Amino acid sequence: MEALAFSLIACLLVGIACMPSVIAQGPWAVRIACGATVDTYGANGFLWSKDWGYSGGRSANVTVNNHKASQLNTVRYFQLSGGGENCYNITVPVGHYLIRLYFTFGQEDNASREPQFDVSIEGTLVYSLLPGWSSDDNNYQDSLAFVNDGAATICFHSSGHGNPAVASIEVLQIFNQAYNRGFNVSHEFIMRSVKRVSAGAEKSGFGSDFLADPWGGDRYWESDISLFLPGSAVNPISTNLTINNAAVYPNIYPQAIFQTATSANPGQSLSYTLPVEPNLEYSIWFYFAELATFVDTGDRVFDVLVNEQKVFANVDIMAWAQGAFSALILNTTVLVEGKTLTVTFNPIIGNIAVNAFEVYALVPTEVQTLNTNLWAIQELKQSLNVPARLGWNGDPCVPQLHPWNGVDCRRSAASGFWMIEGLNLDSQGLRGVLGEEIGALTGLEHLNLSHNMLQGLIPVSIGQLESLLTLDLSYNLVNGSIPSSLGNLTKLQKLFLNNNLLSGEVPHSLSAGALRGANLNIANNEDLCGVGIKPCGHLKGGTKAGIIVGVLLGSLLAALAIYIFYKRRQNIARAQRLPRDAPYAKARTTFVRDVQLARTVLTDHFRPVYRDPTVAPGQTNPLL
Ligand SMILES: *[C@@H]1O[C@H](CO)[C@@H](O)[C@H](O)[C@H]1NC(C)=O
Ligand SMILES: *[C@@H]1O[C@H](CO)[C@@H](O)[C@H](O)[C@H]1NC(C)=O
Ligand SMILES: *[C@@H]1O[C@H](CO)[C@@H](O)[C@H](O)[C@H]1NC(C)=O
Ligand SMILES: *[C@@H]1O[C@H](CO)[C@@H](O)[C@H](O)[C@H]1NC(C)=O
Ligand SMILES: *[C@@H]1O[C@H](CO)[C@@H](O)[C@H](O)[C@H]1NC(C)=O
Ligand SMILES: *[C@@H]1O[C@H](CO)[C@@H](O)[C@H](O)[C@H]1NC(C)=O
Ligand SMILES: *[C@@H]1O[C@H](CO)[C@@H](O)[C@H](O)[C@H]1NC(C)=O
Ligand SMILES: *[C@@H]1O[C@H](CO)[C@@H](O)[C@H](O)[C@H]1NC(C)=O
Ligand SMILES: *[C@@H]1O[C@H](CO)[C@@H](O)[C@H](O)[C@H]1NC(C)=O
Repeated sequence: MEALAFSLIACLLVGIACMPSVIAQGPWAVRIACGATVDTYGANGFLWSKDWGYSGGRSANVTVNNHKASQLNTVRYFQLSGGGENCYNITVPVGHYLIRLYFTFGQEDNASREPQFDVSIEGTLVYSLLPGWSSDDNNYQDSLAFVNDGAATICFHSSGHGNPAVASIEVLQIFNQAYNRGFNVSHEFIMRSVKRVSAGAEKSGFGSDFLADPWGGDRYWESDISLFLPGSAVNPISTNLTINNAAVYPNIYPQAIFQTATSANPGQSLSYTLPVEPNLEYSIWFYFAELATFVDTGDRVFDVLVNEQKVFANVDIMAWAQGAFSALILNTTVLVEGKTLTVTFNPIIGNIAVNAFEVYALVPTEVQTLNTNLWAIQELKQSLNVPARLGWNGDPCVPQLHPWNGVDCRRSAASGFWMIEGLNLDSQGLRGVLGEEIGALTGLEHLNLSHNMLQGLIPVSIGQLESLLTLDLSYNLVNGSIPSSLGNLTKLQKLFLNNNLLSGEVPHSLSAGALRGANLNIANNEDLCGVGIKPCGHLKGGTKAGIIVGVLLGSLLAALAIYIFYKRRQNIARAQRLPRDAPYAKARTTFVRDVQLARTVLTDHFRPVYRDPTVAPGQTNPLL
């Protein structure tokens, strides 16, 4: 710990890249060639794994192949018949990641038009692919996000316009503190990259093209040369000299982005305008290094503006970076209400020279579903055999725009998390069973599983769903008896269990309890009996077995009670030195009998249970 603190201080002082000890292991990196059936090695020697971690979809070769990179020659695409929500679940350690996706319109399934769809990371909607996205050759998107649960979940949400498709996914670890804005990096935002410009660079390139440290997340930097119109008052400049403080913790930049710059003629300002999503905060990072040996402190001074608002005044690279060929890194956060973001560099003294800048949209992370609900619904997905076409992948409640089919959610006032409020899976051809996990969906108000082919028992745990207002299991193949725990559901307004294979006694808790006001339908079952229906005379085999077990248990309890009584009485007798007297013992025995009688009355229909099977009717139990 001390060594680490020392090295941090040392590198702050000396100015070399300072990195925590984890760097020894190198950053975690996963690269997936979506749709590919074999592993390949791409440019820069990276391994592109064959497709894994996806919940569904099909793979296709890209028929319009305008990419040289092999990992982009296949896509995984998701047809609506396979569900509207599809995800990659990529196992990675908890940490901070740059997640980059490439999209290709491969004309899979002979689609004539590019699909439109949404993409979420860890439950937060980050991208919407809008009409025209495929006209750009470089259809990549990257974001900086925290993964807190051991797997990066990247989902593709259909909006009904074609099949979502993805060509490649990279999940590259960066430092937890990367891109901190002056305080600890907030988990409240995903930083979606909007633009990353290496000004004056001859070519665009990845960090790896520039031999950068992998902890930089292999960012892609775009050259701005193509933006310059012939005759415009700007010039690229560059150096081959090493820039001090470039690859510094926590962001670890490539040298190259500081080694080139775009300079404007004296007196001219330089600005870049980007289309952006309105009403979001943007985090903007500026990179400067003085590349001219003849420029001294005070020779080149300028202001930096974002949408006309001055964010840095009187920037003097030589003074601020303490010399030439030294990196100066500045960042600011601005709220943008309109649809464009303009970065302007206004000269005060000398001419402008800009090395690089980055713009990130701060996308607020969506609150996820309560863990217990998430676990329960995933278990229920299995037990109910929910078909793929319902697209039950990712988080059931978020992104808010794309909850699971048949799932209604509500924010819990107590925890702030999403909870499942309604499950409407009526007439879905479900052939599974309703698992006991249902009891964990404690926010559930409406459950409709009617008109399916569900088998098995009604889970006892339903009695824990105290908010339940409607419960409709009608028209299924549910058997066994109705659990008395349903009597717990005091808010229930509708209870439909009709047209099933239920049998046995209707629990008293249903007729006698708080359910009296509810709309109850238990018609058309196999063999239900009890109050309001037929009396429960005839008992079936299963019930008989239950009774015998019950009787044995009852006798055992009685025996135990008597044993304890005698033991205790002996002790009392010993303690009080009272002679053992019959009337006293008799009185106590009667008391035991009374208790049994009381219990018999309470569980009315079980009256026969309390006849000891070892004793013929009419005789008394010798134990009593
Ligand atoms: C893609 O192309 C390869 C080689 O041409 C072929 O073997 C493979 O079956 C194709 N895959 C699909 C999904 O069309
Ligand atoms: C995603 O992967 C993690 C870790 O491997 C696993 O625990 C989790 O159950 C997976 N989630 C889904 C929905 O498959
Ligand atoms: C796409 O079109 C070709 C030729 O028109 C046809 O052979 C092929 O079956 C079609 N593929 C699909 C998935 O419809
Ligand atoms: C971003 O700027 C703030 C000041 O506005 C500063 O405290 C912080 O250290 C900067 N972040 C990085 C990573 O340089
Ligand atoms: C920032 O993070 C560091 C290391 O993770 C932690 O020790 C520190 O308490 C955090 N500071 C705040 C203000 O949260
Ligand atoms: C940098 O080096 C390359 C080759 O090593 C050379 O072609 C180029 O002119 C040099 N650039 C500068 C600005 O010195
Ligand atoms: C459950 O869904 C069916 C339609 O499949 C509907 O007729 C019934 O009224 C619903 N039950 C409740 C309690 O709303
Ligand atoms: C009935 O409700 C109580 C709390 O009101 C709960 O503790 C109990 O577990 C519930 N019983 C069943 C069988 O669900
Ligand atoms: C309920 O049905 C299942 C088969 O669907 C059967 O295995 C089970 O024994 C039945 N239970 C009762 C109590 O009838």
